[in-house]
Amino acid sequence: MGMPRLAKVLDELPVSGDVLEMACGTGQWTRLLLDRARNLTALDAAPEMLRIARVRMRGTTTRFIKADIFTWEPDRQYDTVFFAFWLSHVPPVEMEVFWDLLRRALAPGGCVVFLDDSPTKAEIEETVAEAQVPTMRRTLADRSQHLAVKVLHDAPVLTSKLHSLGWEAHIEPIDAYHFAGIARPRRIE
Ligand SMILES: C[S@@+](CC[C@H](N)C(=O)[O-])C[C@H]1O[C@@H](n2cnc3c(N)ncnc32)[C@H](O)[C@@H]1O
Repeated sequence: MGMPRLAKVLDELPVSGDVLEMACGTGQWTRLLLDRARNLTALDAAPEMLRIARVRMRGTTTRFIKADIFTWEPDRQYDTVFFAFWLSHVPPVEMEVFWDLLRRALAPGGCVVFLDDSPTKAEIEETVAEAQVPTMRRTLADRSQHLAVKVLHDAPVLTSKLHSLGWEAHIEPIDAYHFAGIARPRRIE
């Protein structure tokens, strides 16, 4: 499924109010979030990604933040925190820290919305068997090779992991290779 069809999935997801996009990359999702948001903030660590995203979002009021998600502290709260193809890059040891950050970034009643690759993606991407954390090797068009942390989450396992971290999550397949998730902080009974 290419970006246009994946993008249609966003129409079905609860994106509203003040929206924060984590790891926005070149802004292909930022553009789509704009129509759904009262105001929009997009964050990424890479200046070259932000440069492209800023050009794409020129003429809008989108606020951009250059920051490392693992050390960043939100200066306000959001109704929706969105990320696409980011969760799979969060190393397992950082999951708790990351989801704690999300709790601090969410306004009361808000939710986290995310899209990512399913475990079936391993059939078409090369895993690096000897790596200490789940890692994949990518060969780019210029034939350069790059290693990236890539944790392909199984929906039921991720749902129960998030439950143990204090979240109520609903994760549904989009197609054979992708899933979408919605998570809200779990009420303490
Ligand atoms: C696979 S890309 C996804 C980009 C975008 N969400 C999309 O779907 O097109 C992952 C993005 O995460 C960003 N990134 C990687 N590590 C990061 C970190 N520690 N903090 C913030 N952004 C990070 C990269 O710069 C890159 O733009």
